[in-house]
Amino acid sequence: MSERLKQFAYISHELLDFQEEDLRGLLMQSRKKNKDMGLTGLLLFDKPVFMQVLEGPVASIDQIIADIRADERHHSMDIIYTNDDLKDREFGNWRMGCRILGNRTRDDYAQLDNRIRRLLSVGRPNGQLAHQLLVEFHAMKDAFLDL
Ligand SMILES: Cc1cc2nc3c(=O)[nH]c(=O)nc-3n(C[C@H](O)[C@H](O)[C@H](O)COP(=O)(O)O)c2cc1C
Repeated sequence: MSERLKQFAYISHELLDFQEEDLRGLLMQSRKKNKDMGLTGLLLFDKPVFMQVLEGPVASIDQIIADIRADERHHSMDIIYTNDDLKDREFGNWRMGCRILGNRTRDDYAQLDNRIRRLLSVGRPNGQLAHQLLVEFHAMKDAFLDL
């Protein structure tokens, strides 16, 4: 029997004033650990807000939620979407894709950035809509990965 998979998305606010090199360090740390824990996902950063989706085996997800929540580089982690019975991974082999919103200007990128920004600007975003936009980001594939 295959392992049961879970997926969740959250938003949070930076405490550290994240610069590109801080993000790079965070991603290096995350990708290594995500590989060990069988986690995949995507991190979006629209300063000062993070939105991240993670998916993987139930035990790994429960552990990473606790780890990320305890991280003092950000605060107010708010889980906006959970799927306790994910059939197939939606973020493929991304050990942690990352995009800084607004970092590129091509029209098709900018449109999706703006839709995410509108979503984040309302305070607590709608989880279903957030999930849909995150999946759209994945569909655009590597063109989006900044770091
Ligand atoms: C916005 C944000 C996203 C993070 N995403 C991940 C992640 O996807 N995977 C991960 O292992 N750690 C992530 N972290 C780091 C964890 O909070 C924590 O520092 C790390 O898992 C601890 O690793 P350690 O076992 O090496 O101490 C993230 C931290 C922040 C602030």
